[in-house]
Amino acid sequence: MATMDASTGPAVAVAVAVVVVLVSTWLWSTVAQLVWRPGSAARRTGCSSAATARRRRCCCHDIVPRVMPHYRAWMSRYGKVLVSWGGATPALCVGEYGMVRQILADRTGLYGKPDPGPALLALIGKGLVFIDGDDWARHRRVVHPAFTMDKLKMMTKTMAECAREVIRAGGTESPAGERRVQVEVGQQFQELTADVISHTAFGSSYQDGKEVFLAQRELQAIAISTFNSVRFPGFQYIPTKRNMRRRQLEKKVRGMLMAMIRERQVAAGKEARDLLGLMLEANAACGNGGATTSMTLDEIIDECKTFFFAGHDTTSHLLTWAMFLLGTHPEWQERLREEVLRECGGGGGGDTEALPNGDALSKLKLMTMVLYETLRLYGPVSQIARKVTADADLGGVRVPKGTTAIIPVAILHRDVDVWGADAGEFNPLRFRDGVNRAATHAGALLTFSLGHRSCIGQDFAMMEAKATLAMVLRRFAFEVAPEYVHAPLDFLTLQPKCGLPVVLQLLD
Ligand code: HEM
Repeated sequence: MATMDASTGPAVAVAVAVVVVLVSTWLWSTVAQLVWRPGSAARRTGCSSAATARRRRCCCHDIVPRVMPHYRAWMSRYGKVLVSWGGATPALCVGEYGMVRQILADRTGLYGKPDPGPALLALIGKGLVFIDGDDWARHRRVVHPAFTMDKLKMMTKTMAECAREVIRAGGTESPAGERRVQVEVGQQFQELTADVISHTAFGSSYQDGKEVFLAQRELQAIAISTFNSVRFPGFQYIPTKRNMRRRQLEKKVRGMLMAMIRERQVAAGKEARDLLGLMLEANAACGNGGATTSMTLDEIIDECKTFFFAGHDTTSHLLTWAMFLLGTHPEWQERLREEVLRECGGGGGGDTEALPNGDALSKLKLMTMVLYETLRLYGPVSQIARKVTADADLGGVRVPKGTTAIIPVAILHRDVDVWGADAGEFNPLRFRDGVNRAATHAGALLTFSLGHRSCIGQDFAMMEAKATLAMVLRRFAFEVAPEYVHAPLDFLTLQPKCGLPVVLQLLD
């Protein structure tokens, strides 16, 4: 039988005590970092009550209390730059334009893209949006030729044709020839922009790509639900119901995209007119340099995921919010209609309706101003994040490696010091001298971000929005339906929680 002598007894007792202290310290710090600290912050700022915020019917454009109430509360106490905790990671909220520019202009890799986590990767893919360094430069070189203005103008006709189909289906299928019809335009624009990206990116129709969009919508919901859960390392490998469904959807999307790409590789040699064809063409041209200049099949699949999601979801919300603002500001709606009729003509309706072309759309100055103002007040992306990769000096603030820098775009776009006393109001005229003269800082509009990592699809989105609105404006007068509930929701992208019902009145 083992016995303890007088000298080993105290030693074991000390060892046990040390282990107990270490384990309880670890447990306490884990609970404090993951649960108590964020939880108490949420309680102090009313985050949880904001999640069930009141629905408001009218048109206050201040979305901040709905989408980032905690930063609003903290900034009023601590100023424009402050630290909070995202789980165990410090987060620096950068609400000051000079510092924002320093972050976005950096090309040394000091402010890299944060780890998106498995759920966002499954949705958007490890494409341009999430990669850094040499990989990013290589991808951007291959993808860029597909987004030049001449290529986009080539795609305008497809954009306008898709819009004509949706307008026909949504607006003129009214009961017994009625001239007024109520439509939920949020859903219509989701389908329209999905159709446009299917045609312009993959040369197919929404019906062909529908399965990809439906799978992505479910992946979007999964990604949102993971944001609100505590992330433990390795948790993504545990076979929970959500993880298993995510992997299933990921596999399905990959299979469908792979089939589309293989089909195109077989048809290589034909003139490329869509984003995928142009990307494959540029990739083949870069191929001579081997893996250092071209992309692998897996990388192309990831870029396709990015196009599918980023290429339609954001633009559909831009269109929805523009309809909301024009539906609540009839004087601007009328001004835009006059401009469209002057620059693009009346169209005439029916199958032979003349479609607005890229050159005519480039002349729509008032429309551009309204779209910029929509993007300022209701930009689809409410915040931009970066990971600080080494200890940094940011405008005099010492920022430790590993910090997440959060750029609260929705708050910066309402900064009265930069946008003026009417920052909270809808005033497209602020953009009359161009986007860089609308505020005290050039580059104050952060909707598409700034610098070398800014949105590659911004001209694409603007062109599509202009083509669609031009087609709607010359055919209908519209107003927001009385049932509309003003409840902007950040579901990865900013959207009206209950959709946007609009009453369309067919024009002569
Ligand atoms: C209203 C529409 C859009 C908005 C508001 C928007 C917004 C943004 C923003 C803010 C970024 C920078 C993200 C960051 O730095 O973390 C970005 C990047 C990107 N966007 Fe868009 N986007 C829109 C439309 C599109 C479209 C139509 C496409 C493609 C067809 C697209 C593809 C991309 C890609 C590939 C990137 C990554 C660029 C890079 O890092 O090189 N976006 N977008």
